[in-house]
Amino acid sequence: MTTVQNNEAASPSCDEHEERWRTPICLGGRQLQSRFFLAPLAGYTHLAFRVALRRLQGLGLATTDLVQATMLWSERPKSLELVATTPEDRPLTVQLFSGNTNDIIRAAKWLEDRGYEAIDLNMGCPMAKVNGAGGGARLMCDTDGAVQMAEHVVKSVRLPVSVKMRLGWDSARLTAPAIAAAMEDVGVVAVTIHGRTRAQGFHGGVNREGIRAVVDAVRQMPIIANGDVRTVDDAISMFHDTGCSAVAIGRGAMLDPWIFRRLQYFAANNQAMPEPSPDEQIDFLSQHFYLMTEQHDDHACFQFRKFAAWYGARLGIPEDLEDRLRRFENYQEFDQIVTEIRQRHGERQCAIPTALIKVPNGPVEHW
Ligand SMILES: Cc1cc2nc3c(=O)[nH]c(=O)nc-3n(C[C@H](O)[C@H](O)[C@H](O)COP(=O)(O)O)c2cc1C
Repeated sequence: MTTVQNNEAASPSCDEHEERWRTPICLGGRQLQSRFFLAPLAGYTHLAFRVALRRLQGLGLATTDLVQATMLWSERPKSLELVATTPEDRPLTVQLFSGNTNDIIRAAKWLEDRGYEAIDLNMGCPMAKVNGAGGGARLMCDTDGAVQMAEHVVKSVRLPVSVKMRLGWDSARLTAPAIAAAMEDVGVVAVTIHGRTRAQGFHGGVNREGIRAVVDAVRQMPIIANGDVRTVDDAISMFHDTGCSAVAIGRGAMLDPWIFRRLQYFAANNQAMPEPSPDEQIDFLSQHFYLMTEQHDDHACFQFRKFAAWYGARLGIPEDLEDRLRRFENYQEFDQIVTEIRQRHGERQCAIPTALIKVPNGPVEHW
C-alpha cells in the first residue's frame, strides 16, 4: 500500500485514498464528475474530438491544445480555432504558452473577458521553437521565473490557473517537486506532471516515483499524474503508485476513446465495462467526423484522415476500408465507406493501431 502525504484538503487515510479515484473532485471551484482527464495533444484534441469523447461519458476535464499567448490575444484565426468551444464542451481549460509574462497575462484576460473557465500554463513542452522563446519546459530551468509568471497570472485574473510540466529538464535537474510546492504557495490550483524529463522526450518509461515525489512535496494542491496510461489498470495503478488526485490521458484516448467511460464504469461497478457494440463504435467514428465538419466544413475530410489509422484497428475496420479513410475527399465518400464498414465490421480482429501518434524524434536538442 502506498503511503500518501497531504494531498487535497482533507488528507484521506490510506483506505480512503485507495478509493479516491471513485469519487468526483473539485478543482479551482469547478466540480468535476470524474478524476479522469484528457491530456492535450496538439493537432488532435480539438473541439470535435473533445465533444465526441464527452458524449461517450466519463471524461472529467478536457484541455485545449497549447495556444501561443500573443497569437491568441491578437486573435489570429488559427488560435481562435484552437479555443473554439460549445456549451457541450465543458468543463474545459485553455492551455497557454509563452516565455513572456505580459503576453500570458494579456491572453489570460482575453479568455476571462470571453467567459472561458480556466487556464493552464504549459511548462512541459519540449519543442525547440517553444523552449527557445523561453516557454514550455525551459521554464523548469528557472524555478523563480516560472513561479513568478504563474503568480502574476493568478493575480491578474479570477479564473483558476493550473500548470502542466515534466519532472524537470533532465535527470540531473528534477525541479518539479520544488516548483510544484512553490506554485501551491502562489495560488495555482493544480499541477499536471508528465512523468518524464524534457531530455527524455517521449522515450523511456514514465517515472512514477518521480510523480510521487511531487505529490509528497505539496500540501493540499491536487497533482494530476500523466504518462503512458492506456488501460483501466494503468490508470488505477497510477493512483496507487503516486498518490495523485487525478490522471490525465493523452494518447490512450486516441487508442481507445472509451477509456474514460471504462474508468467511470469500473469505478461505479467494480467490473469491466461491456465492449461497445459494433454500431456504437461506428457511430462514434461518424460522429467525430460530422462534429469536425461543423467547425471545418470540407476541410474536415483532410483533417479526419489522420485519425483513420487509430480508429481502424480499434473499431474493427477492414484494412482496405481504413486505407480509403486515409484518402477520402468528400462527405459522400465518407458515408459510403461507413456503410461498407457497417456491413463488414468485425472482419478484422487485430486491435493494434497501424500508425502511432507522431511524437518528435531524433536528438531532443533538434526538435
Ligand atoms: C502529438 C502530441 C501533442 C502534444 N501536445 C501537447 C500540448 O499541446 N500541450 C501539452 O501540455 N502537452 C502536449 N503533449 C504531451 C501530452 O499532453 C502528454 O503529456 C504526453 O503525451 C504523455 O501522456 P500520454 O502517454 O497519456 O500521451 C503532446 C503529446 C503528443 C504526443
